[in-house]
Amino acid sequence: MNPLIHPNITDAMRATVSQKSAVAIELLNQAARDFSPVGFASSMGAEDMVLTDLINRNGIGIEIFTLDTGRLPPETYDLMARAEKHYGEHPVTWFPKHDAVEAYVRTHGINAFYDSVELRKACCAMRKVEPLTRALAGKKAWVTGMRAQQSATRSDLPEREFDEARGIEKFNPLSSWTEREIWVYIHTHDVPYNALHEQFFPSIGCQPCTRAISPGEDVRAGRWWWENPESKECGLHVKAG
Ligand code: ADX
Ligand code: SF4
Repeated sequence: MNPLIHPNITDAMRATVSQKSAVAIELLNQAARDFSPVGFASSMGAEDMVLTDLINRNGIGIEIFTLDTGRLPPETYDLMARAEKHYGEHPVTWFPKHDAVEAYVRTHGINAFYDSVELRKACCAMRKVEPLTRALAGKKAWVTGMRAQQSATRSDLPEREFDEARGIEKFNPLSSWTEREIWVYIHTHDVPYNALHEQFFPSIGCQPCTRAISPGEDVRAGRWWWENPESKECGLHVKAG
């Protein structure tokens, strides 16, 4: 059992998580009230499952969608199926455009993302960013599961911001949460989660671009591990300026 995701849960921790949940619910309600229609982008990671649970449990009018890149690990598809049963809803799923994938693979190869940063970014652009643009068409705001503590590039992440790149409001309701608080919520509310988290995968993306981390490593160290930290962006979250 991975101790990082099975913390000893004290009453004090439960109280903190309950307070933080109330703040997150208020923010989600605000998004739904003032910026309808709103889309929540779920990668099915631990943070996103907390938000999925908060939205479902409180009947908040936010559409939950996921970007299926076609290269997700089997454990993520397994979680999608379990979550479908748990919440009684099929996910709103967006896929990449088949002609773009066919052209990329025929020209560069099936795993060309290992060959250069440019080809890796082109793969992310085609499999994630372009489908996100379609998923957000007509939306006035979007919600993510990002946390400030996930990486140096997210350290000043606000709970609410204007997404200059997309021209809509962006909500990050779990920005101030710690990893431990995420797991306290998950166990308190019996939220389904990805089996890979048990195997030291705190951050899960596409199967070929994600690996387990060692104790003490940054939570996103297992993502695009062969690249320099400064190039490790998939393009979903672009800062202006
Ligand atoms: S990222 O580098 O892939 O963007 P990360 O996996 O840490 O980073 O995800 C951050 C947030 O981006 C998630 O909480 C979620 O809101 C959104 N996101 C990432 N991948 C997906 C996906 N495949 N489908 C939908 N949303 C996603
Ligand atoms: Fe392609 Fe890897 Fe990006 Fe997934 S994470 S879209 S496989 S480069």
